[in-house]
Amino acid sequence: MKGIILAGGAGSRLFPLTLVASKQLQPVYDKPMVYYPLTTLVESGVREFCLISTPHDLPRFRQLLGDGKAWGLSIEYREQAKPEGIAQAFLIAESFIGKDDVTLILGDNIFYGGDGFSEAFSEFRGGASIFGYHVNDPERYGVVEFDGEGRAISIEEKPKQPKSNYAVPGLYIYDNNVINITKALKPSARGELEITAVNVEYLNRGELRVHRLNRGFAWLDAGTSSSLHEASAYVQTIEKRQGIKIGCPEEAAFRSGFLSLSELESLINKIPKCEYRDYLQEMVAEAKRLKIEPSALL
Ligand code: TTP
Repeated sequence: MKGIILAGGAGSRLFPLTLVASKQLQPVYDKPMVYYPLTTLVESGVREFCLISTPHDLPRFRQLLGDGKAWGLSIEYREQAKPEGIAQAFLIAESFIGKDDVTLILGDNIFYGGDGFSEAFSEFRGGASIFGYHVNDPERYGVVEFDGEGRAISIEEKPKQPKSNYAVPGLYIYDNNVINITKALKPSARGELEITAVNVEYLNRGELRVHRLNRGFAWLDAGTSSSLHEASAYVQTIEKRQGIKIGCPEEAAFRSGFLSLSELESLINKIPKCEYRDYLQEMVAEAKRLKIEPSALL
């Protein structure tokens, strides 16, 4: 399964923060925002990535993440000249996707808690898998309606009168048909290739699965100054209380088996003395002490 991180857009709601650095490079407590969606996919077993951003911001992402080798990953980069829709990512990354299945995550979506995604990835056999998350303000998102048996029956983009409180978060899993489906789409009234239109096409074909994320799951949006601040506060609260980090790609790569213990140790040696390094060092010490598989660590 290939992974796309979509990290373009204007970030206009975060002005003036986004004048010189894009939204997905802003700090969320102790890490750049893009670390969180990257970690979510690494935890789900994705190893090959394509990051898409604006021509202006792409060099910064390269500087931050490099080719991914240090983390046992591979990361390619592609430009999106203008924000012409989330689904455009499948056309920009067509050669990267090749003949594989693909998952797309938005660079400003932060997820935490439970193993809501692992089942969707392990059970994926084709078609499309998306998620439904109960929110207070569904009209801001794609909204999915379910029938009495829990099957999705409609999806609407930013409806004025939402048919349910279930919003579709920015993580989607598709088979390779997504490329041809996107090629057949026409831009919407706002001039975008809509991800909701892709999902509606899979729904019409009877090939869409919607996994409901349960109440123990956090989906944070960091698109405005106050939601960015709230996301930082949330991450800080969990990290301080539990002594674990959210959105740590090195840890996720180690737990997913993409980095060996010795590779992780040499990587840690290159990190300057700081809390982040202390955290990774403690994790290595714990793994050595317990002599268990990395995936079994807390
Ligand atoms: P939005 O939050 O809808 O847009 P934005 O990031 O440009 O912010 P603002 O509304 O404040 O101007 O986008 C959601 C995510 O999708 C965000 O991570 C940017 C990304 N995106 C792209 O990279 N390309 C696109 O064409 C679109 C529509 C979104």
